[in-house]
Amino acid sequence: MKNEIYNRKVKIKDLTLDLPVALAPMAGVTDLPFRMLCKEQGCGLLCTEMVSAKAIYYNNRNTWQLMDIDSGEHPVAVQLFGSDPQIMADMAARVAEESDCDIIDVNMGCPVPKVVNNGEGSALMRRPKLVGEILSAMVKAVNKPVTVKIRKGFTEESANAAEIARIAEASGAAAIAVHGRTREQYYSGRADWGVIRQVKEAVSIPVFGNGDIFTAEDAVRMLEETGCDGVMAGRGARGNPWLFREIKALLTEGEVLPRPDRQEVYETMLRHGRMLTELKGEYIGVREMRKHVAWYTAGFPGSAVLRGRVNEAQTFDELKNLLEEAFLGNR
Ligand SMILES: Cc1cc2nc3c(=O)[nH]c(=O)nc-3n(C[C@H](O)[C@H](O)[C@H](O)COP(=O)(O)O)c2cc1C
Repeated sequence: MKNEIYNRKVKIKDLTLDLPVALAPMAGVTDLPFRMLCKEQGCGLLCTEMVSAKAIYYNNRNTWQLMDIDSGEHPVAVQLFGSDPQIMADMAARVAEESDCDIIDVNMGCPVPKVVNNGEGSALMRRPKLVGEILSAMVKAVNKPVTVKIRKGFTEESANAAEIARIAEASGAAAIAVHGRTREQYYSGRADWGVIRQVKEAVSIPVFGNGDIFTAEDAVRMLEETGCDGVMAGRGARGNPWLFREIKALLTEGEVLPRPDRQEVYETMLRHGRMLTELKGEYIGVREMRKHVAWYTAGFPGSAVLRGRVNEAQTFDELKNLLEEAFLGNR
């Protein structure tokens, strides 16, 4: 049975999403190859890893690679982090002009000390006035939609997601994603979906709920329980781009899809490895693929042994042989 939620199309300014399901930005994970795999599975909105506005400002060489976008992956957001309104606005303008992104997203959720101690990421939740200044300046500087990703709050006591959401809306933000954990919690405990509902009730721009979507059922339950317009999945998509087709099938047809079989997992890992190697070179590609293989094969019989071997692989051919042996060896 079709879920009526599916009929509610999410609009981010002039952009209408095919599916109200987004890939959460994840540093070290949501690079171009991984985003393409999620797109193939029907993900409605992609996002880059977070990119430092200051690094763009200082012309850091490797930064633009994070914003490589393929013509097949639209709509896609570039996520910036920073805290200086002028630099954020100027860099948003540069990114909007020089990259092929559809949306500029602002990171107000990152909990890591290196970022927080600079007053960036989730530290911005403690400075509502500055949030307004940053977003207003950025919205003025670019024509593309500016969106923002926040947490429940910095601490439990100071949780202020609804207040920050109102400020974001008043400053011209086109949508908001809220992760139902505080900075204090990092990624521990369970995400509080109640705060997603609070944010939804506080604003009229689209709200994406985020936190602990690991299955298609989780996604539909979050949409139903919180009233949010869209959902955003992060860790549940690692080594599991099929999550998006499963959410789509459940949302659109009420159908519970079977999990991918070993052949499909194998083929996807191989393609993922090939794409990574082509984009980043064999040395980096094979090394980065190690963690993806661990995610793809978590819970499979023999996965610990395979992981150990893949961690020793130096070349793409070695990686391919190991995967072949593990997945096709005893057919
Ligand atoms: C490895 C990793 C990297 C992350 N990097 C970012 C990031 O660059 N920008 C951001 O806004 N959130 C980042 N996050 C947070 C996720 O986008 C998401 O909010 C969080 O994982 C909760 O959602 P989930 O339960 O679906 O994983 C990261 C999370 C993880 C696990």
